[in-house]
Amino acid sequence: MKALGVFPNEKKLAIVDHPAPSIEAPTQVKFKTLEVGVCGTDKEIAHHLHGVPPEGDDYLILHHEALGEVTEVGDAVEGFEVGDLVVPTVRRPCGDPECTACAEGRQDFCFTGKFTERGIVGAHGFFAEECVDEARFLVKIPKELRDVGVLVEPLTIAEKALLQVWDIQERLPWAAKRAREAGTAPKLKALVLGAGPIGLLGAMVLAENGFDVHVYSLEDVDSPRGKLVRDVGGTYHSAKDEDVKALWKKIGDVDLVYEATGASGLSFRVLELLGHNAIFIFTGVPGRKEPIELDAATIMRNLVLENHVLLGTVNAGPDAFHAAVKDLASFKEKWPQTFETLISGRYPMEEYAGLLSGEVGGIKNIITIGG
Ligand code: BGC
Repeated sequence: MKALGVFPNEKKLAIVDHPAPSIEAPTQVKFKTLEVGVCGTDKEIAHHLHGVPPEGDDYLILHHEALGEVTEVGDAVEGFEVGDLVVPTVRRPCGDPECTACAEGRQDFCFTGKFTERGIVGAHGFFAEECVDEARFLVKIPKELRDVGVLVEPLTIAEKALLQVWDIQERLPWAAKRAREAGTAPKLKALVLGAGPIGLLGAMVLAENGFDVHVYSLEDVDSPRGKLVRDVGGTYHSAKDEDVKALWKKIGDVDLVYEATGASGLSFRVLELLGHNAIFIFTGVPGRKEPIELDAATIMRNLVLENHVLLGTVNAGPDAFHAAVKDLASFKEKWPQTFETLISGRYPMEEYAGLLSGEVGGIKNIITIGG
């Protein structure tokens, strides 16, 4: 079958003829890949900055954001049928019996760092005509989400972050779960840094969850990204028009910063601005850059005196996947037009090179594998 292989030693990217997988245990499911999404991590792997093939292989099959259709189900599998749409999760447990997180099925919190991630580290990804996985690593999605289901995985980043935010908010009695459900909790203000797919999906999740959402990014206010933010009820601010410090002054203290840029300079400048009881969430992975100067004493002082929480979050567990499926269905109903902007193009698999080099622009590009 056709698959896209990254060869780290030869520094090459090519469509390869990879052996088609078959079900080897009764707990497994086989699916044909319908689509994969292109993200920043894939581009880094394609540029050989990241990515590790499975042991013994000289290439890694790329891509971890996928939508598939079940074609075969192992005898012991329950809850999946041929024809079901599925989204695979990305991370696989480290297998160390001492790792409580992996043993609990929460490899997104793995303690050993010896996990594998499909399409990223140590396990083949989903740019392949067929794939096999354990049923427990697949999430079934409704047929109505066929056109947007490939966004489930990138959406889980924001969902995992938000699930943690609600837990953190429990420290504030007036904003805790009960108050939120009763509608008596004060409206929270969120600032999203960056209007790439992770930032925009983050803005949508925050808007859906009742936040007053502000997005700060490089593009013009009149850009499609700015419009998308307004379409979901948020406010878009362009870095072309104002410095983040001026913006902060204008909008007032925010309760939550959701960083989705991977830019350490901007992030730490905003960290210096945080007000009382604020939560700062980092989701971006910066490339290795020159060190930056920062006022560590002020940051530390404010962290303590103002009860700040700094949260780094990566990957996602089943709860975030289920929240993403639910929210996608709701976004589709409320803001169907946003997907026309968010999904900037669907391309045949032969066009992988331009999509991964960044030559083809857009917000979220999708590669069609099977139909
Ligand atoms: C993926 C995550 C993964 C992370 C680090 C992201 O692009 O969405 O699933 O854990 O990269 O490899």
